[in-house]
Amino acid sequence: MVILGAGPAGLVLGNLLLAAGIDCVILERSAREHVQARARAGYLAEHTVRVLDRHGLAEGVRRRGQRHGVCEFRTEGDRFRLDYGLLGKGEQHIVYPQHELVTDLLAHYLAAGGRIRFEAEAVEVRGADGTRPVVEVRDADGRPGRWRARYVAGCDGRHGAARRSLPAGAVRRHQRDHGVTWLGLLAEAPPSLDAVGYAIHPRGFAGHMARSPEVTRYYLQVARGSAAEVWSEDRIWEELALRLRAADHGPLRCGPISQRTVVDLESDVLEPLRHGSLFLVGDAAGLISPSAAKGANLAVVEAEILALGLTAALRHSDPAPLDRYSARCLAYIWRAQEFSQWMIRLLHADPEGVDGGSLFQDRLRHSRIETLRTSRTQQDWFAENYVGL
Ligand code: APR
Repeated sequence: MVILGAGPAGLVLGNLLLAAGIDCVILERSAREHVQARARAGYLAEHTVRVLDRHGLAEGVRRRGQRHGVCEFRTEGDRFRLDYGLLGKGEQHIVYPQHELVTDLLAHYLAAGGRIRFEAEAVEVRGADGTRPVVEVRDADGRPGRWRARYVAGCDGRHGAARRSLPAGAVRRHQRDHGVTWLGLLAEAPPSLDAVGYAIHPRGFAGHMARSPEVTRYYLQVARGSAAEVWSEDRIWEELALRLRAADHGPLRCGPISQRTVVDLESDVLEPLRHGSLFLVGDAAGLISPSAAKGANLAVVEAEILALGLTAALRHSDPAPLDRYSARCLAYIWRAQEFSQWMIRLLHADPEGVDGGSLFQDRLRHSRIETLRTSRTQQDWFAENYVGL
């Protein structure tokens, strides 16, 4: 078994296959230090932690993760809090920086005797329609190499070799550009709220998410095509304070901005998630906009489903669970996509060109927020979808 990519998807899959006694190797393009330091998402659903727990992979999350169950919406002249941990199914998030999860998963994999090659970039997967696919790789010096296996798992993200190697017409790609752009910021500053903050403002959306006691993620909706560099630290803090209405609800705790990245909110889903011997997992299977923090959760759940399918096929000669991999994962993926799209419509004025950018749409958005503020049924629905999969 060859696994491309050592993100959450590849590492969960590697650990599970190793535990099932299936020979595998992970090929990772980047160096180990880079993989372990990359700041990404950080909100894990309880369901995800239960999956990790089932396989003895949740020790770090359980020990150092912070439970979190409140979000606060700030709108014109008002704010309201949703204690989502007490609504719906009563589930919370565990805040645990993704690079720490990756570090834990990697340590566990290596301690169990797992094989991994860093700085080994997959260039192409060939022969996926047969039973002996080949992965062509090159190392950091450009030297070529080759791995052959019964199956290949593409856990190498949206720009990886797995997607690139799919022959035309083998898999459909459903794509949506949400027409919204965020400036994603990492601030070396303690959180300013004891909740996930969502500010809905005429100047655009602003978000606040605790990452750790010393680090906070912020988001600012910006114009499409904006460059991150034009945002000075002063301008960022001014704009955040304005949109989060700090004058009314309390000042922000400022600090140096250590990362700023412009992200166009886009989603796509590949269908099916398999081409012969090649499987797609995590971001390679589908890209979800970060508005509802679902990406890493989906990656873990998909990796478990694939590991169970591969174990049945390779250890017990039962191909049926593997044959159901794509359909089972797509059910989770579409549900997450639907909720993420609902969040995007809640948080942003309707962008030009998506649904016409009309005032009509804007009024609908206000009504949606009001329903969320006042209807217990809607709040339960929100909580279940916000944390669940
Ligand atoms: N060959 C080998 N490795 C590759 C290649 C390649 N051609 N291309 C990419 N990679 C590696 C990347 O360096 C990265 O380590 O694949 C890994 C993919 O990891 P992630 O991007 O974390 O993707 P995934 O494991 O699917 O995790 C999904 O986590 O943070 C969230 O937003 C992220 O939603 C995503 C989720």
